[in-house]
Amino acid sequence: MAQSADDTWAESILKQMTLDEKLDLVRGSNPFTVKPRLTPDVAKGAGYVKGVPRLGVPYLAESDASVGVANTMGALRPGDVATALPSTVLLASTWDPGLVERGSAMIGSEARDKGFNVLLAGGVNLAREPRNGRNFEYFGEDPLLAGTLAGHAIRGIQSNHVLSTIKHFVLNTQETGRTILTANMDEGALRESDLLAFEIGIEIGQPGSVMCAYNRINGAFGCENAFLLNDVLRRDWGYKGFVMSDWGAVHGPSIRQGLDQESGTNPTDAGYFSAQLRAALAAGTVSGADVDRSVLRILRSIHAVGLAGHPPARQPIDYDANGRIAQEVAERGIVLLKNEHDLLPIAATVRTILVVGGHADVGILVGGGGSSQVNPVGGAALKVPAVFGKKLYSNSSPVAALRAALPQATVSFDDGTDPRRAAEAARKADLVVVIGEQFTTETMDVKNLNLPDNQDALIAAVAGANPATVVVLVTGGPVLMPWLDKAGAVLEAWYPGQRGGDAIAQILTGAVNPSGHLAMTFPASERQLPNPTIPGYAMAGETVQRDLYGLPKDMKPFAVTYPEGANAGYRWYDKTGAKPLFPFGHGLSYTRFAYKDLRVTGGARPGMSFAIANVGRRTGADVAQAYARVNGVRRLVGWSRVELKPGERRRVVVDVDPRLMASFDVAAHDWHVAGGTYDIEIGENVERPVLKAKMRLDDQRIKP
Ligand code: BGC
Repeated sequence: MAQSADDTWAESILKQMTLDEKLDLVRGSNPFTVKPRLTPDVAKGAGYVKGVPRLGVPYLAESDASVGVANTMGALRPGDVATALPSTVLLASTWDPGLVERGSAMIGSEARDKGFNVLLAGGVNLAREPRNGRNFEYFGEDPLLAGTLAGHAIRGIQSNHVLSTIKHFVLNTQETGRTILTANMDEGALRESDLLAFEIGIEIGQPGSVMCAYNRINGAFGCENAFLLNDVLRRDWGYKGFVMSDWGAVHGPSIRQGLDQESGTNPTDAGYFSAQLRAALAAGTVSGADVDRSVLRILRSIHAVGLAGHPPARQPIDYDANGRIAQEVAERGIVLLKNEHDLLPIAATVRTILVVGGHADVGILVGGGGSSQVNPVGGAALKVPAVFGKKLYSNSSPVAALRAALPQATVSFDDGTDPRRAAEAARKADLVVVIGEQFTTETMDVKNLNLPDNQDALIAAVAGANPATVVVLVTGGPVLMPWLDKAGAVLEAWYPGQRGGDAIAQILTGAVNPSGHLAMTFPASERQLPNPTIPGYAMAGETVQRDLYGLPKDMKPFAVTYPEGANAGYRWYDKTGAKPLFPFGHGLSYTRFAYKDLRVTGGARPGMSFAIANVGRRTGADVAQAYARVNGVRRLVGWSRVELKPGERRRVVVDVDPRLMASFDVAAHDWHVAGGTYDIEIGENVERPVLKAKMRLDDQRIKP
């Protein structure tokens, strides 16, 4: 939402609105329960907000959209399909803002053509907790990477005159007890980490709306946290759009605390932003001006994103073209973690390939579970009645794709249910591909980082029988790999989306050179984590009986503290000296790159440049990462994704946002860059610097 948007339209509409019309705009409804019933032409997803047709204010038809236009609320409606992009953590692993913007523009266009004009996208919560069931919906653990990519995702969506959120504001770091916990963190640490990701995302993406989170932050609920909503978001950042609540995250008519719109209400709800708001108006605890301010913010965003001029209308969708984008994204975000003796790409001499597990004969796990789920084009591969939080497989089969790509080889399949049988078959094959799968879902965190259902034993047996074993991980985030020494190669495919099986085959065969780099650290053990056990997990566990928003019965409120503070993810490993299994930023290629000639400029505007060359034999892309040591801990301060032909060399320039080199001074209320000399490193991951330099910075204070 353009911060400088002209308010004339919004102001003139506001003047003509009745109180009832205003109250309609500050409350969203469940489109399936709203009275009177909506006509069939209104697209029905997560939410609906009544418009003011007489004044040209369109209704808002809202859909979830972390990885595509979500369509699995309730029972699966056959034929109701949408393009499933890979998971957001895979998008983050591309480190490619342009591609993220293009992929998100595709989702935005599909949404518009399905009749939606608001997307509940832009998940930028930092992935601090690797067991969080929703990490697949987020852009990784670093504020610069996550904020930048979320900003571009929002920009892509809104380029279609479809309004996007950024969510969930803020510190929604785990699913366990998400609606009752308080996430406690010092203001300075919060400003330098999770808030910074939002700040950057908002600056780049200008989202029409910010969705406040379920949890409390330092004691106050996200949707009634006046400090965060009024002081940080509006006063400090100058945000002019509106704040909508997460679904069921409202606890009162908290319009003065900074919430503008309650979402997803049902006729049986408490009526916080309807009956209770009317009562508050009557009692004088809320004024007409308070309501007007919120209505103006909503109208302003509707105008800034161009919703009024582009009312929702259904159009035919080019699913083939959109599917190609989904595959391209997958091909750029899948990460090659290990490749001993160049086991990959599959050599021309390989004649027999055994694929094990993951239902790879029919498809691939398409995504994680919850509100973001997408029933992909082509339908579900396994006949599961897909409902919220259940596994869904796309029809993109790695086995079929390998057969098509390698006509000289025989590709067979073993379902992996009997490790001994699979190991026996593995022994006879030239090469083995075994799928390791971890399903994660909204409302639940994973118990631990091991692959579930005895898969570690299966992989160990297969890789033990044949060292030419490639493990393909299909997971929502990091997992442990007790079998790592035995495996020849490991590919992290995340949830690779609708054409995931094809993308995996393209990389295995070398038709595509892998270029993804980890957006999350892979721990060597849970003991390395700031919180070795998930706060509250002992109370929630794997309880099946939960309320609508995932809360197990009888769970009591609790606090989450963050020993790592601003040092989320790799910074914590840097600080504690712990050696992860695979570091942040890691990702191998089938070619090699060489770096030289780092030059830095300091002063008040830090920046650097260096040369990168492809010294191998294939075209490929590398992600050159720039880190600075601030207060003794490495921080990502910039990066460049460069695609080069063999022998090609390029000079890369990285400008650094001084806030990344600063501490937030709470007392002075500004960012403070301490004058002095800083260590700068360029690396292919956070642990492996290939170039080093010193940078001198001026002492600087920057107002938020
Ligand atoms: C999720 C949001 C989502 C909303 C609407 C909530 O449970 O936390 O991310 O946008 O539901 O489906």
